[in-house]
Amino acid sequence: MSEDKKVIISLKDVTREFNTGDGKLEALKAISLDIYEGEFVAILGESGCGKTTILNIMGGMDHLTNGTMFLDGKDFSHPSPDELTAYRRNYIGFVFQDYHLMPNLTALENVTFVAELIPDSMPPEEAIEMVGLSERKNNYPSQMSGGQQQRVSIARAVCKRPRLILADEPTAALDFTTSIEVLQVFENIVKQNKTTVVMVTHNNEISKMANRVIRIKDGQIAEIIENHSPSSATDLSW
Ligand SMILES: Nc1ncnc2c1ncn2[C@@H]1O[C@H](COP(=O)(O)OP(=O)(O)OP(=O)(O)O)[C@@H](O)[C@H]1O
Ligand SMILES: [Mg+2]
Repeated sequence: MSEDKKVIISLKDVTREFNTGDGKLEALKAISLDIYEGEFVAILGESGCGKTTILNIMGGMDHLTNGTMFLDGKDFSHPSPDELTAYRRNYIGFVFQDYHLMPNLTALENVTFVAELIPDSMPPEEAIEMVGLSERKNNYPSQMSGGQQQRVSIARAVCKRPRLILADEPTAALDFTTSIEVLQVFENIVKQNKTTVVMVTHNNEISKMANRVIRIKDGQIAEIIENHSPSSATDLSW
């Protein structure tokens, strides 16, 4: 991504310490990272290296210990509770590894439930259509495959028309074929909606889809690789 791209989130020397039973654990050690509007970023690294912690800080689900987070150029390191609520509601869509759907609501109702909270949301049917689930919209989560449930959870994030979608290992619980279906949905979101996507994965192959790959090692950025010709989801194999 070149300099003419707009930076939406910027981390500068961000650290995160956790208190553990026997002292402090430094999960992030001076992370500096810019996220550009419209890009697809993969955060790659081994278990425990700090991937989820970075995502949670960017998503307003965790707070940094030291350093600065800028949101659209403004210091957002220590937001007020109201600012945080507005940020999580309007700016961010989150996709978790284990879907987090409401079991007693249908696919469509799971999306509608969130859409109703947002003033400028996408019609829920449109979000369901976008993830290719129109025919299953009246099914409950228990009646759907893991990949279909994950697509509902992506529809739920997308219907908010968020600036940024954060996805934490969204295909980790899925088999290969289903993973590709889910990754195609992310690919479309970046291309058609111009939504920025930051996806955590430990799968090297998935990171080939990204415009940039941020490799994390032991709480630090080990390298940032720019991908000039990202692969299509359908070209991946593992
Ligand atoms: N709430 C917490 N309290 C104490 N330590 C924590 C907490 N959350 C995370 N950690 C520690 O911080 C480090 C980074 O954790 P994080 O969850 O970000 O790793 P990760 O890269 O997402 O790993 P995985 O691939 O297994 O999901 C780990 O050593 C973890 O044990
Ligand atoms: Mg994690």
